[in-house]
This record gives sequence, structure tokens and C-alpha cells, in this order.
Amino acid sequence: MTPCKISLKPVKPNSKYPDYLDSEFRKLFSGLKVRPVLSFNRKDFFKQSPVKSRGMSISGVQEKLSLKINAKKELEITDSGGEYILKPSPEAYPHASENEHCAMLTSQALGIETASCGLVSFSDGELAYLVKRFDREGDTKIHQEDLAQGFSLESKDKYAHSYEKAGNLISFMTNGKASVVFDFFCRVMHAYLIGNDDMHLKNISLQKLPENNRLYYDRLTPNYDCLFTVTFDTASGPGCLALDLLEDEKEGVFSKPYETYGFYTKHDFKLLAYRLCLREKPVEALIQRIKNKESALLNLVHCSYMPDDMKKKTASVISERMKAFDF
Ligand SMILES: Nc1ncnc2c1ncn2[C@@H]1O[C@H](COP(=O)(O)OP(=O)(O)OP(=O)(O)O)[C@@H](O)[C@H]1O
Ligand SMILES: [Mg+2]
Repeated sequence: MTPCKISLKPVKPNSKYPDYLDSEFRKLFSGLKVRPVLSFNRKDFFKQSPVKSRGMSISGVQEKLSLKINAKKELEITDSGGEYILKPSPEAYPHASENEHCAMLTSQALGIETASCGLVSFSDGELAYLVKRFDREGDTKIHQEDLAQGFSLESKDKYAHSYEKAGNLISFMTNGKASVVFDFFCRVMHAYLIGNDDMHLKNISLQKLPENNRLYYDRLTPNYDCLFTVTFDTASGPGCLALDLLEDEKEGVFSKPYETYGFYTKHDFKLLAYRLCLREKPVEALIQRIKNKESALLNLVHCSYMPDDMKKKTASVISERMKAFDF
């Protein structure tokens, strides 16, 4: 059965599109009329991208464009009022789009609020990753700030601090909201679990609710930019995260279990939780909840649009990391 290009669940017969579940399509595109095939191909995208993204408020290394639904119900490139971001696979990283799509769904499966996303096709059939923007509600711009900005760091220094320090900044920026720090902790565990070594300070952002004029932030933005980077050659090795987990690592000090096994285990994550003043019981329950999701996550990988070798690497990392949460 064909997996839905939004949820990866099997598409029912008589769906409007053969590779999308109607219910998922409606949620992402607010109706069933939008054409999920773009009127341009990948080459045209890269010709347009440097020009069109100049005025765009979305930064990041990978080339991307803002899209909106036009009167003909097509996804059209736009300079302003974009509702979606299109991120095709870069030349150097084939199938990054299919990879990001599945990685985002694993975040959602762990109960992390995650940006709504799916795969659409270029005019030549190649798949591209599309994500709904979460920084606006109608015409209202939602105020958000990433943690590099929070630390007053330049973008190039996005790997400069540890997750421990990042978690403490989140606590400070939310005036001590433990639920937001817990959400952050869950995202760090997810990054480790799926082999994402690119969750740097610009890939974690805080948002204010539209009616909030105060200094403090309310919540993290939905999770974004999740990737099984471990499947690409750039990954710096097993056990790696974008940032140090704990501050001690700056001085070359690692936990005893890390010294023994050579990778992070449950012990290190519990130490992070402790340093972030998170209560032990909910943290234990979270770890258990994550462990119970192993087969659901592996099923997502299995049903994904990634090529087989990428699926294989991803599945083996998830299984290994699940084991690391045992001790
Ligand atoms: N769905 C979204 N809605 C609104 N803003 C978003 C969304 N997704 C990402 N962003 C913002 O756009 C920036 C760039 O997006 P993203 O991180 O996905 O791109 P990237 O080029 O892969 O980044 P990187 O530089 O980490 O490789 C993010 O740092 C975030 O601030
Ligand atoms: Mg990013």
C-alpha cells in the first residue's frame, strides 16, 4: 500500500490523490483542491532561489523558497505572505527531503510538537520537503527568537554552547517555565535517538503567544530541521550531538559510563535533566515512553520515501540508541 506523503500511513482507496490521505492533505493544505505537484523543476528552483529568498525572513544554510497557494490552487513561489517553506534536497545530499520528512514524523511520534510537513513533487517527479510556517497566524507575525540570538551569538557560533547551557537559557527566557525546559530535554533525547548531529542553537527557538507583550517567552516553536544526519557522510561519528551535552565536557570531563562505553547513555541524559532541575519521575517516565516507541519509529522509517540504504542506516542507529537508554 502507498504511504501517505504527509503522515506515512497507508493511503485509502478512493482518496483524491493516490499518494495522500485526504484527512492529512486537508490538515496541511486547508482543503483538497491544492495541486501537490509544483509547476517547476529542481533546476528552476535553484535558479530562482538566490533571488527570491533574499527578502525572505527565513535564514539557514540550505536553499529554500517561500510558497503560497495562489488563486489557481497551485503552490506558487512568493516574496511575501508565504505560508509554506520548500526545501529540496541539496545537490550534495540526495534524498535529504525524504530524510527530513521522516525524521520530523519521528519527532511527532514522540509527542513533541512538530511543524506540519509533507513531500510534494517537482514537475519532473523528484520529491521535495515542504513545511508549513509556524511564525504567523493569519496576518499576525508571531515573535520568535532562536537560542543563538538569545545568547547574543553570531550565526557562525551556533555550536558554541552546551545543551546544559541552552536549557538554562530557556529557563531564564521563559521565567523558569519547567514545562518548556522539559520539552527541550525531550528534543535533545530525540536528536540523539535519531542520529541528528545538527540540532545547534539556531535550530531551537522560543515563541511568544500573539497576545504576550511581556519580556518572557511562552514556549518552544514547533520542532523543525530534524534530520537523520547520521546517514550522510558529514556526520562526525556515532554518539555525537551538535553541542556538548553537559558543561563539564568543555574541560574534557565525561561521566563514568561515557568513559566506559564511549557514547552517551541514560545516565548522561538523567544528569542533564538533574542539572536543568527537572523532576526525576517525569524524566524516567519520558525515557520509558520513548523506549516503548521503538517499533513505531522503525515502522515510520520502513514506510518512508528514503532509499533502502538510508532506511537501513537509520533503523540501525535508532535501535542502537534505544539500547543506550537502557543503561
Ligand atoms: N516551519 C517554519 N516556520 C517558520 N520558521 C521556520 C520554519 N522552519 C524553520 N524556520 C526558521 O527558518 C530557519 C531555517 O530553517 P531550517 O533550520 O529548516 O533551515 P536549514 O537551512 O536547514 O538550517 P541550517 O542552517 O540549520 O542547516 C530556522 O532556523 C527557523 O528560524
Ligand atoms: Mg536550521
